[in-house]
Amino acid sequence: MKTCGPILGIETSCDETAAAIVDGHGRILSNVIYSQTLHADYGGVVPELASREHAGRLPGVVTAAMRYAGVTWDDCAAVAVTAGPGLVGCLLVGVAFARAAARARGIPLLAINHLEGHAHTPAMTEPAIAYPHLVLIASGGHSSLVIIDGPGRFRLIGRTRDDAAGEALDKVGKIIGYDYPAGPELDRDGEGGNPRAVPFPKARFAGQGYDYSFSGVKTAAALDWQDRQEGRKPPVDRADWIASFESAIVEALSDNLFRAAEEHAIATVGLSGGVARNRRLRRLVSDWAETTGRRAIMPVPELCADNAAMIAAVGIYRYPGDDIPPAQVDAVPNWQLGEPFPREPAV
Ligand code: KG4
Ligand code: ZN
Repeated sequence: MKTCGPILGIETSCDETAAAIVDGHGRILSNVIYSQTLHADYGGVVPELASREHAGRLPGVVTAAMRYAGVTWDDCAAVAVTAGPGLVGCLLVGVAFARAAARARGIPLLAINHLEGHAHTPAMTEPAIAYPHLVLIASGGHSSLVIIDGPGRFRLIGRTRDDAAGEALDKVGKIIGYDYPAGPELDRDGEGGNPRAVPFPKARFAGQGYDYSFSGVKTAAALDWQDRQEGRKPPVDRADWIASFESAIVEALSDNLFRAAEEHAIATVGLSGGVARNRRLRRLVSDWAETTGRRAIMPVPELCADNAAMIAAVGIYRYPGDDIPPAQVDAVPNWQLGEPFPREPAV
């Protein structure tokens, strides 16, 4: 692999303000994540508040990432920034900062796709990973299945047709009394519960595809909870109810992952995205891998959720980039995985 000096990664696509330094061999020297907590009171991310919070926090987060890594601006070979997909106002904060830094230092600015960061995370965790491998990206904004043929070479074979898995967990979690984001608390409170106590629907599409749908199970869970609160259905132990709902989501995710690995004869699978922190999902995938003789790569929790190390790591294999002048790098809120960065400003 060609090497370059350390790359500064910047990630502000949603509600994590993050900066990281990755060296030319792909080693993480620092990975600083400020998770915005102010959205808890609103039941979801408030875009305007998120972008203001990024603007206030990003300079300090970048300084901390450099200090922990023991590097200065003089050492940085490039700045890699998430340019999309994501919330436009949030993306713009990271892009404006990165653009200014790259221009001031005269170093390349690499516009990185957020989903490419997630897709690369298993390879980052295990540099000797076999290709092709299959990655499940499950987060608050995405539920996708991607075959990775090599660094930067993707085939998107499944995506959600409505809500993302994390979105369904967060919305139902809110109905049953948790603050946003509810995923980690559902994971904790469903532990030990009976996943077969309440039968929830799992969406299946006719044909050979691997698409997901989570809006049906979300609505079914909301109605079931209401029925039990209002006495139309018998009460169920809270841990059992949560375990049943959580299982409906993670089994839908893993069913398609397993089927895709079998049908495409792929021996190595990886997880990424905030929902990949879920212990029930991780157990399901590792048990399946063990029984079927496959390899499952599950990055540490802080690399599953949004972070800038994955953005800097993509920057390492993209370096020196497409020679796009920093002034032309812009936020691309709907940038699809695998599409080249659009040269024309998108906003
Ligand atoms: O990747 P991420 O940090 O941000 C997005 O790009 O969306 O994912 C956040 C999502 C939220 O929906 C959150 O509830 C979910 O990941 N999440 C979890 C767990 N930890 C975070 N879901 C289930 N179990 C967890 N342990
Ligand atoms: Zn993400």
